[in-house]
Amino acid sequence: MYRTNYCGEINENFIGQKVIISGWVNSRRDHGGVVFFDLRDITGLVQVVFRSEEIQNSGNIIDIIKHNVKPEFVLKVEGKVYKRIEGTENFNMKTGRIEIILEDLEVLNTSKPPIFDIEKSRQVAEDVRLKYRYLDLRNPELQDIFIKRSLFIQEISEFLKKERFFYIETPILTKSTPEGARDYLVPSRVQQGTFFALPQSPQLFKQLLMVAGFDRYYQIARCFRDEDLRADRQPEFTQLDIELSFTTEADIFGVIERLIQHTFKIFGINIEIPIKRMTYQEAMSKYGSDKPDMRFEMLLNDISDIFVETDFQVFKQVLSNKNGRVLAVKVDNGALFSRKDLDTLIERAKEIGAKGLLWGKYVNDNLESPMSKFVSKETINKLIDRLKVSENDLVLIVSDNEETAQKVLGALRLDLAEKLNLIEKNDYKFVWVYNFPLLEYDEEKKRFIAKHHPFTSPDIKDFDKLENMSKDEILAINSRAYDIVMNGTEIGGGSIRIHNKEVQKKMFKLLNITDEEAKEKFGFLLEALEYGAPPHGGIALGIDRIIMLCTASESIRDVIAFPKTQKASCLLTDAPSKVAKNQLLDLGISIKSLEK
Ligand code: AMO
Repeated sequence: MYRTNYCGEINENFIGQKVIISGWVNSRRDHGGVVFFDLRDITGLVQVVFRSEEIQNSGNIIDIIKHNVKPEFVLKVEGKVYKRIEGTENFNMKTGRIEIILEDLEVLNTSKPPIFDIEKSRQVAEDVRLKYRYLDLRNPELQDIFIKRSLFIQEISEFLKKERFFYIETPILTKSTPEGARDYLVPSRVQQGTFFALPQSPQLFKQLLMVAGFDRYYQIARCFRDEDLRADRQPEFTQLDIELSFTTEADIFGVIERLIQHTFKIFGINIEIPIKRMTYQEAMSKYGSDKPDMRFEMLLNDISDIFVETDFQVFKQVLSNKNGRVLAVKVDNGALFSRKDLDTLIERAKEIGAKGLLWGKYVNDNLESPMSKFVSKETINKLIDRLKVSENDLVLIVSDNEETAQKVLGALRLDLAEKLNLIEKNDYKFVWVYNFPLLEYDEEKKRFIAKHHPFTSPDIKDFDKLENMSKDEILAINSRAYDIVMNGTEIGGGSIRIHNKEVQKKMFKLLNITDEEAKEKFGFLLEALEYGAPPHGGIALGIDRIIMLCTASESIRDVIAFPKTQKASCLLTDAPSKVAKNQLLDLGISIKSLEK
């Protein structure tokens, strides 16, 4: 037997009892003839004490203690639980009131000196940690993340079972699904020259499962996207993928709200439901973002009307365009910023795409601003009234086309919240964003692209009118897509789908996908829609992102057991890597640079 108990679970209730524990040596301290060491397993640490006089025939044990109680050696310890002597307790440690007096000891395995100190691994360079990820993962802080991740997924399953969802797996070797990223391709050996794509999401299969009548589906689904990596993106990630038949937005919001309210308790996060709902248009105009961070105010204001009459060229020119706007945010106490602070803000605004950034400091009842020379006192007063500017406030103004002005002030708003410490720790704010535009226009490719994906239902009754619509009218069509946003990060997105073949065909046409292309890529879906497809819709939540936010982890890599680097490689296994020539031969693939 390797154990009667887990290390971290032995407490004062066990005093006087014999226990057997197994685990890794965490640290060792020698005090005269007495040796102390901490043994660690998945539940935590416990202190073991070795005093030779308490063991008969202790010769062999003394030898082991001397040579084999070293960091990361794997031991089995038998001993008795004692209360620690007063004054030697460690109240920061779960098991800090007791210790185990060693009676017998077995070495289960030795260890090379670990590459880094497990307890301090979080300070080690990430490439080293990732190469020795199995050592890094011994760090209790990291283990805690993965234990929570595991509990979260287990709770999801329990919850969804009660809500009558079925767990169904969909293929990994499949055909490309357009979610906007590049595909990872897998060559076929049996049919040389053809390729599978790894799924960017199970989107089409879950829709087919609705056609098949499964009514409510979920899957903890691995997705693959070959896209530029960021702190919250990995090429391989996990979604909680959900689809329901005979459903509406309200049903889906309800299920997800109950689900997260129930499961986020694991992280100690209590969520009030229903979650606030906001149209895309409101999110953009107030927060300058489709993923608004609602933990602080500093809202955007459209002050174009105040400046319509002005002669100030910067505003006048912009406002003469249909889409031109003057937008502002008020920064409480921002007038205390130095000139250098302001210059940094101006630089940042330019980086994001603004032509400039105007500022105004309200000090001694006066708005000090580079624009004061060009704008009348009356106009400035209107601005002060509108934004309710008070002593020591700073006003930041961007005039540009609406989209750019929103983007710039939206991003500055986030930077400023960080700079001014406006975000409280352990504050969690959720919002549903809905009414997204159906389409965007790709100026380079000169065509429409789907904002969510091509299977999202447009929010118009009569799709036939489309043929006679102008570009602007088409861009004004909303979709039945929605995102759920947590603290300014999109943690999930979904939509009510198109279940009518004709509408789906029209949608493809709008996206410049020819009939042949549609047939070749999605023929199976179009065909399935002809066999009594029920109205349906769904959503996918990004599990990794949720764990990252709920455990306050800095990077998505901290919440994935074996993550990829920024360059999409695995430092532990050295993947991707070259393969043997005969493997390529089997696949009918030749690599040009290799042949050279
Ligand atoms: P979407 O593309 O919005 O929707 O993805 C859903 C959620 O998955 C997470 N996510 C990612 N997480 C880590 N790394 C990535 N590279 C990454 N990409 C996306 C995000 C996102 O909100 N099929 C649709 C869902 C649907 O319509 O039902 C889809 O995949 O948290």
